[in-house]
Amino acid sequence: MTQHLLKITDVTKDELMDLLDDAKIMKQQVKEGVPHPHLAGKTLGMIFEKASTRTRVSFEVGMTQLGGHAIFLSSKDMQLGRGESVHDTAKVLSRYVDGVMIRTFGHDMVESFAAHSDVPVINGLTDEHHPTQVLADLMTIQEHKGTLEGLTMAFIGDGNNNMTHSLIQGAVLSGMNMHVASPEGYEPDAGVWKEAEASGTVFFSHDPSEAVKEADVVVTDVWTSMGSESETEGRLKAFEGYQVNEALMSSAAADALFLHCLPAHRGEEVSAGVIDGPQSAVFDEAENRLHAQKALLKKLL
Ligand code: CP
Ligand code: NVA
Repeated sequence: MTQHLLKITDVTKDELMDLLDDAKIMKQQVKEGVPHPHLAGKTLGMIFEKASTRTRVSFEVGMTQLGGHAIFLSSKDMQLGRGESVHDTAKVLSRYVDGVMIRTFGHDMVESFAAHSDVPVINGLTDEHHPTQVLADLMTIQEHKGTLEGLTMAFIGDGNNNMTHSLIQGAVLSGMNMHVASPEGYEPDAGVWKEAEASGTVFFSHDPSEAVKEADVVVTDVWTSMGSESETEGRLKAFEGYQVNEALMSSAAADALFLHCLPAHRGEEVSAGVIDGPQSAVFDEAENRLHAQKALLKKLL
C-alpha cells in the first residue's frame, strides 16, 4: 500500500523516532559536505494553493540534496485551478512524479488526492493539520533537550488551527505532555482532543499562565491563519492576553525553549523580546524543516 503523510499520526512512534534519527544523520552530512543522493532520479511534485516560504524552499532544496528534483506547481497555473478534478489530477501526476506534496485549504482535498494517487502524498499544510512542521519541531526539541519523552509542551493561542492540532498529535505520539491555552471559541477540534486524551496526557485551560506552568517548551502561532484574513480584527480582540511575552515565559521552566513555526507577528502572538531572545530556537526550527522532510521523503519515495 502507498504510504502517505496527511497527519503526523500516520506514522507510528517507532517510525517517528527513526525519521528523527535519520534527519539528524543527514543534517550532519550537510554540515560535513557528505553527499547523500538517496533519491537520485526521483521527482517530487509540489502543489501550492496558499503562499509559502519555508515549505516550498525546504522541500525543493531537500530534493536537490537527495539527488532528485522538485517541481513547483501553483494551483493558479494548473488546470486544477480551472476546475479539473482532484481525481484526474492525482491520476495524471502519478504517471509522472514519484511523490506529491500539497498545501491547500480543506483537509478533505489531500485525503481525496491521496485516495486517488498511486504515489505517496505529503500534507504541506491544510487548514486542519501541518505535520511536516511538527516533524521539524520535534527534531528541534530533541536537539535542544536531548529527549522528548516526559517533557511538557505548552501551546498558547489559536487552539483550533493546523499547528495546534499537529502539535497535540505529535506531542502525544512522542510521549510528551501537552498543555493548551486558547480563548473561548478557539479551542482545539473536539475529535483531535478526544483522541489525544485517550492516548496521552493533555491539559486545557483558558488561562495561559496555568497552561505554561513548568513547561519545557512554549509554542505559539499566528492568531489569524491563511484563509481566515477576514476575521483578523475580531481575532485581535479575542486573543488579547494570549501573547507569549517575558512575563508569561517566567512561569515556564527556567530553561524552557520557545518555538514558532513562522511567519510571526512580533507584538501580537509573541513579543520581540521572546522570539529574538535567548530561549528562542525558531531559526533552528526553520532549518530543521529541511532535514526532517528529507528523512520523510527518503522513507516515502
Ligand atoms: N512554517 C511554514 O510552513 O512556513 P511557510 O508558510 O513559509 O511555508
Ligand atoms: N497557522 C498558520 C501556519 C503557517 C505556516 C497558517 O495556517 O497560516
